[in-house]
Amino acid sequence: MANIGIVIPAAGQGKRMGAGYNKQFLTLMGRPILAHTVGLFEESNAVSEIVIVGAEGDLSVIEELVHSQRFNKIVAICKGGVFRQDSVRAGVRALSTTIQRIVVHDGARPLLTLQAFHKFIDETQEYPAAIMGVAVKDTIKKIDIAGNVLETLPRELLRAVQTPQIFDRGILEDAHDRAASAGYYGTDDASLLEWMGHPVQMVEGMQENIKVTTPEDLWLAERILATRET
Ligand code: C5P
Repeated sequence: MANIGIVIPAAGQGKRMGAGYNKQFLTLMGRPILAHTVGLFEESNAVSEIVIVGAEGDLSVIEELVHSQRFNKIVAICKGGVFRQDSVRAGVRALSTTIQRIVVHDGARPLLTLQAFHKFIDETQEYPAAIMGVAVKDTIKKIDIAGNVLETLPRELLRAVQTPQIFDRGILEDAHDRAASAGYYGTDDASLLEWMGHPVQMVEGMQENIKVTTPEDLWLAERILATRET
């Protein structure tokens, strides 16, 4: 299988969780969220290197976590930036030059399964850039800052975007470099390619692959994991 490098941005503040510290260290079934996320890639025979990007104050905790979990594909634990995009850019730079295919996956998405990850890799092999997304259940409207509704977007063409996102290394680096020079910021990596006019392929994601952002998400994630273990 492929010689894939993983970048895990985990340098967010976790303010929406209200825990007072990085949400990725909260535990799910007795194991830190970040350990669940990294553990999946450790187990995958498609993955040869993993880089974790953490906030400056969290780096020693992440080192300890890597040590205690006996992860051995971690090639670097690097310092993140102010925005997610800065964190991913730092992580990409830390991968060996032999890695030519990169997957970016949020540290806060611990519920991805090995089966879904491998399906994603297979389905996206031929695309220089591809992402996972799921159909949206709600009607989504665009508003202005005063709250006036501007339009209703056609739901069948909308996807809620997740990670993993997979890229040929050259394209991902180019997109990050150009966006940094132009001061352009996006909330995911694919948006930088879209901004450059580069095609991005969407494939079906998994509803359970939630980003654990609020206390309600943590509650839900516990229940999802509990059902998997029974
Ligand atoms: O902020 P958001 O919820 O989009 O974060 C998605 C992922 O990016 C999280 O795992 C978070 O820790 C990470 N992140 C980061 N550096 C930042 C902001 C977010 O690594 N400056």
